[in-house]
Amino acid sequence: DQGAENVPKAKGERFTSSGFILAAIGSSVGLGNMWKFPYITGKHGGAAFFLLFIGCLIVVGLPVLLAEMTIGRGGRANASLAFYKLTNKKAWGYLGFLSVLTAFLVMSYYAVVAGWTLHYTVESFTGLLFQQGTDYKDKFVTFAGGSWPVFWQAAVMILSGWVIARGVSGGIEKFNKILIPGFLVILLVLMVRSLTLPGAGAGVEFFLKPDFSKLDAESALIALGHAFFSLSLGMGIMITYGSYVDKRQSLGSATLAIGFGDLVYAFIAGIVIFPTVFSYGLKPGEGVGLAFMALPAAFAQMPFGAIFGGLFFLLLAIAALTSAVSILEVPVAYAMNRWGWTRKKAAVIVSVACFVVGIPSALSVGGVLGSFTLGGKSIFDLVDFMTSYVLMPLGGLVVTLFTGYAWKLAGEEAGLSGFWYRAWMFLLRIVSPVLIILVFLYSVGLLSF
Ligand code: PHE
Repeated sequence: DQGAENVPKAKGERFTSSGFILAAIGSSVGLGNMWKFPYITGKHGGAAFFLLFIGCLIVVGLPVLLAEMTIGRGGRANASLAFYKLTNKKAWGYLGFLSVLTAFLVMSYYAVVAGWTLHYTVESFTGLLFQQGTDYKDKFVTFAGGSWPVFWQAAVMILSGWVIARGVSGGIEKFNKILIPGFLVILLVLMVRSLTLPGAGAGVEFFLKPDFSKLDAESALIALGHAFFSLSLGMGIMITYGSYVDKRQSLGSATLAIGFGDLVYAFIAGIVIFPTVFSYGLKPGEGVGLAFMALPAAFAQMPFGAIFGGLFFLLLAIAALTSAVSILEVPVAYAMNRWGWTRKKAAVIVSVACFVVGIPSALSVGGVLGSFTLGGKSIFDLVDFMTSYVLMPLGGLVVTLFTGYAWKLAGEEAGLSGFWYRAWMFLLRIVSPVLIILVFLYSVGLLSF
């Protein structure tokens, strides 16, 4: 009975045009921009890699982003029902459901990481983080291995559940309209700070010095995978957000705005991070090690480091929270449609379920479940691996094949015709599926160089 619910959407269930673009940028600008993109750029040829990344955004990222928003708006429904409504085929509804499941699982551990950033924000501003002689690696391992992460995970679930419960315009849109400008201000403050540190040039050089000799098939696949992840594709987010967009909104220009926003934020993040790292003689790295172990050591030595460190973690927290809200909305929208629940009820039930499912992840980063591994991976790593490397590419593949082959009216909904339509179809039918499969094979280790 996937098609039984065709309730017209209430007023508060709509984005304004600018609210939609901001919310989509809020989703796409996440921890990936802050702690992954700068590092892979620095490592794989600086400005040369940056150009390659732009190419990947254009060839795979933007076409799939446009396809997701088009499916959402065309179907006016959640990430499973939209597929069904547009083709009347149950099988597509089930394939779409996969991405709802992906979003639910991603949220379960993303809330854990977002929680860490909240804890570090508080610890920085209070100065607790910066005591003499602290070993930041130790400090993180002790924190993540304790039970406090569950508290912060709960805080993230409550906050994002609350935003979602308030609705699309009064919740998601408002939240992003407040946080994204704040995010930009903090980012610019930190950029000025980092560029004026002694020896900042070495950091900029590491990040941007073009080295075309480092570009190879492997860096191309890394750039592709990141373009995909960075735009929050393959998990129904842009489908769900697209279902709240007005018919008059040009999806083509929204696509360009979101891609551009994502790129600019990633670029500035690199300019914040590397000068800071290099200026204090630390080693550049990515992910947890960079954010929770290396950078605190830099802030500890900086004048007013508690404030700059606090602002940095606040930046991470905002990036994570605006993404978290977008992920949570996917299963909530599904539950509302599927079971006829009110938004509030769906938000509460899904958030609680997601919290419970995420507890093992929270406790497996060195915590009580840390020693339980499967194939050498902790529960946390396993959920991350399954979603990022298996389910998300699969979700992306479903979107490209659906838009390229199954749904005949995609071009009309997207507002494309002539050359642009043919180009879009060529990318969706052939280029994107092939590249997504290659990235998938590479990331699960079936293809290597
Ligand atoms: N796009 C976000 C980033 O770049 C990550 C993300 C992935 C957010 C999936 C939501 C869903 O960090």
